[in-house]
Amino acid sequence: MISHHQLQRFANMQAFLCTFLLIFAVTANLACSRQAKKTDTNVDGDDSGSKLPRAPTVTACGLCGNPISVTLKLNNQFKTPYFEYEVKVNNHPQRELIYMMQQAADKNPAFKFSADYFASLGFSISTINGLSASVDDKTYWALLDHPSGAAKKLGVSSYIPLNNEVIMFNFTTWATHT
Ligand SMILES: *[C@@H]1O[C@H](CO)[C@@H](O)[C@H](O)[C@H]1NC(C)=O
Repeated sequence: MISHHQLQRFANMQAFLCTFLLIFAVTANLACSRQAKKTDTNVDGDDSGSKLPRAPTVTACGLCGNPISVTLKLNNQFKTPYFEYEVKVNNHPQRELIYMMQQAADKNPAFKFSADYFASLGFSISTINGLSASVDDKTYWALLDHPSGAAKKLGVSSYIPLNNEVIMFNFTTWATHT
């Protein structure tokens, strides 16, 4: 059972992360505008005297790192039909796990997931390969470190995997007696 205290801690963590991301985003944005200005100057240099209206500069800014590889293990030993397999995400810019899951789903027709969006908390995985978390059954898709089995403290919208990390989604229950 998720206690009020745990929820509060999660909220605090999110607030901290948001502040950090905001600062990062502002800094990245400034860097992008500087880059855009530099490009404009170059274009002016090449096209001096041209009176043609210039297309607006569009710059895609993302909070991404270097390309990394991550393995996702999908494990259900809780409810028949049991299944366990893994999908690998290669060469994806390092960023929040949810984006890596999207790439995994794009590249592997056998991997499907759906998620619910909760304002500010981000996405929560509701279904993987047709197996859905259910409040009635007290089941959920736990996000675990592999092989330690330790629960990740952040959700899929906040957690940023490391290169070559193995992440497990384990279908399980929050009920104390199963
Ligand atoms: C995964 O879930 C099953 C079913 O609840 C549980 O028995 C098992 O211990 C879990 N595995 C890990 C690594 O937590």
